[in-house]
Amino acid sequence: MASLKDQIARWNLSTRRTALPDAPEPTGSEEPEQPPGADTPHPPAPAPGIWTPASPGGDYYATKMKLHQDLLTRIDLNSIESLTPEQLRDELGTLLGELIEEAAIPLNDQERARLVSDLKNEIMGLGPLEPLLADASISEIMVNGYRNVFVESGGRIRATDIRFNDDAHLMKIIDKIVSRVGRRIDEYCPMADARLPDGARVNAIIPPLALDGPILTIRRFSVVPLRMVDLIRKNTLTPAMAELLSALVKVKCNIIVSGGTGTGKTTLLNILSGCIPSCERIVTIEDTAELQLQQEHVIRLETRPPNIEGKGEITMRALVKNSLRMRPDRIVLGEVRSAEVIDMLQAMNTGHEGSLTTIHANTPRDALARLENLVGMGGISLPGKALRQLISASIHFIVQVTRLGDGSRKITSIQEITGMEGEVITTQELFCFRRTGTNPDGSVQGSFSATGVRPKVSDKIRSYGISLSEGMFDPVATG
Ligand SMILES: Nc1ncnc2c1ncn2[C@@H]1O[C@H](COP(=O)(O)OP(=O)(O)OP(=O)(O)O)[C@@H](O)[C@H]1O
Ligand SMILES: [Mg+2]
Repeated sequence: MASLKDQIARWNLSTRRTALPDAPEPTGSEEPEQPPGADTPHPPAPAPGIWTPASPGGDYYATKMKLHQDLLTRIDLNSIESLTPEQLRDELGTLLGELIEEAAIPLNDQERARLVSDLKNEIMGLGPLEPLLADASISEIMVNGYRNVFVESGGRIRATDIRFNDDAHLMKIIDKIVSRVGRRIDEYCPMADARLPDGARVNAIIPPLALDGPILTIRRFSVVPLRMVDLIRKNTLTPAMAELLSALVKVKCNIIVSGGTGTGKTTLLNILSGCIPSCERIVTIEDTAELQLQQEHVIRLETRPPNIEGKGEITMRALVKNSLRMRPDRIVLGEVRSAEVIDMLQAMNTGHEGSLTTIHANTPRDALARLENLVGMGGISLPGKALRQLISASIHFIVQVTRLGDGSRKITSIQEITGMEGEVITTQELFCFRRTGTNPDGSVQGSFSATGVRPKVSDKIRSYGISLSEGMFDPVATG
């Protein structure tokens, strides 16, 4: 990982190359676009020249960039090596104070404090992103080009008044993030995944692939991962559903968590994995390591993207195959999305029961269809019926998660795969969430209910010495 000194030197160079006080404003469509689902409109732009960080094209950004440049020429790179972060912050504060005095910039106390804080964040952290990263209630940060920053908080997406100086500035922040984890992003390699030191998942995609400027998406996780009790408290599922899921994991059912993007699949996978007894050997395989298992015996594997010459890629499939030689009791796969699906299904079917994964699908039926398609896309040509037989023998349960219009996440269905009837995989639903309406405040009305069906796996659960609560499958609406 690059030292602070290297980072500043790199920053210094690129700032001198690209930061101009009169950085051109883009022309053409100036109105920021709302992403789908955004709840609030973008704040109106203040008149040009008004001295506020929120003012697009105002003096603030030009002044900040100029000061930033001056500051970098004053920093003694050799002496900062020996400073602690607190000392460096103080040192930067002093230097900035001097520069502001020298340039005789007319500022009141509030403006001055804001400018100094922004510049410290610029040098030591991730610039305009720092205030968002400091806000624990923000779960997702979406930067759509330098002027449009949206966040998700409490399940809702809203626009912020945070912005970058220009696209070059945003690019520098992206570069800072990806270079910290030894990756690169440029026009030859315009997409990158990375992670922030706190574990947040980062994706960046830049022109020419992104047509309207660099796009940065940061998925944050609570420092303390959500637990089953938190999900019950958030009304994502009922205690009975939680009891069943936890038992299913303990008795080694193969479970697939199905849901759309950002619905909470990984969070639920993490919680389900937490129910695996600690005596078992668990191998986790992910594209970007997000799972935070608490057991001691966990081996974490992560795929590797190809390098700049297109070489060196290690796929999920290769890791699943490799994991089979590592004597795993359980394999936890972050998401099935391509050819690894066939290896995962075979592993689930041949001695690695109790494996868990997620899939991108909007209903349990879609999840089954998607599994079939993924096998086909992997170049395996099994007759349809044989493939469905493999799927029905390998997967025992599908848990559907959904993000509702009010931002809440719900487990909307727990289905058991019961076998085949003719050419079709049969399932039975044990629990569901039925929406009944919308409250005046926009929150969703509805209730969870057992369907009255008892799972086929009941005997197995009993044989493991687990007794489920009396009447938990009775169809009584709750929540
Ligand atoms: N039950 C829940 N209630 C409230 N927030 C939740 C819940 N589950 C997950 N979240 C939050 O929602 C965000 C998305 O969660 P997660 O990463 O698990 O979704 P995902 O379906 O795996 O997303 P992706 O499709 O991008 O992989 C996270 O910030 C997480 O903390
Ligand atoms: Mg996920």
